[in-house]
Parts: sequence; structure tokens; C-alpha cells
Amino acid sequence: MAAIPEAAEPPVDRAAAILAARCASCHGAQAPAGGVRADTPAALLGVQHGVRWVTPGHLDESRLFEVVGSTSPTPRHRLTEAEVEILRAWISSAGR
Ligand code: HEC
Repeated sequence: MAAIPEAAEPPVDRAAAILAARCASCHGAQAPAGGVRADTPAALLGVQHGVRWVTPGHLDESRLFEVVGSTSPTPRHRLTEAEVEILRAWISSAGR
């Protein structure tokens, strides 16, 4: 797996690395699983499949963590705590 970028890098770049390494294989532009694009930060913003998965600046309104996380019921959606923290930091920073 690709190394997680240094903390000094912008949250959006660190999030992009995680999505590319952990999500893009199933959620890319071509036939994304579940009809949801999750291969880049930009792809995750906005309403997809009737749900707003990521709302920049609003962790509580970002339903992404109902699907992915360290204790996700679906093994393919299980991330490490460090990866989850990076995605949370990206959303908290209003997507920057
Ligand atoms: C091995 C393939 C695979 C990987 C890797 C994967 N997913 Fe999924 N994902 C699926 C499938 C298949 C579905 C369809 C619903 C289900 O069976 O869980 C899905 C569904 C979803 C959904 C919609 C759930 C719903 O209730 O509609 C989201 C959001 C999602 N994935 C995000 C992600 C993110 C973010 C990552 C990376 C951390 C990721 N997925 C990694 C296969 C994958």
C-alpha cells in the first residue's frame, strides 16, 4: 500500500492518497460500486446515490463514516484509525 503522505501536506492531498489506494479500485469512474464514485476527493463531494456522503466542514453531516471506518461491517470498507483520521481532517478543513 502507498505510504500515507506527511502531515505537513494539505489534508486534501492526504485524503486523495487514501482514496486512490483504498477506494479507487472499486469506485472509479467506470461502473463505480454501488453507483458511488470514491476515487478522488472531488468525486466524493456532492450528492451521489441520493446521499450527501461528504459535506465539507461538517463531519456530523458526512455520512461517509457510516460506511467506512475501522469497525466497518463490510471488510472492504475497513480503514485504519490513521486513515480515518486523515479523511476526518480533510472534511473538517472544509475540503482543503
Ligand atoms: C473491493 C471493492 C470495494 C472497495 C475497495 C471499496 N468499496 Fe465501497 N462499495 C463496494 C460495493 C460493492 C458497494 C455496494 C454496497 C455494498 O455492497 O456495500 C460499496 C458501497 C459504497 C458506498 C455506498 C454505501 C451505500 O449505503 O449506498 C460508499 C459511500 C462507499 N462504498 C465508499 C467507499 C470508500 C470511501 C472506499 C475506500 C475507503 C470504498 N468504498 C472501498 C465496494 C468497494
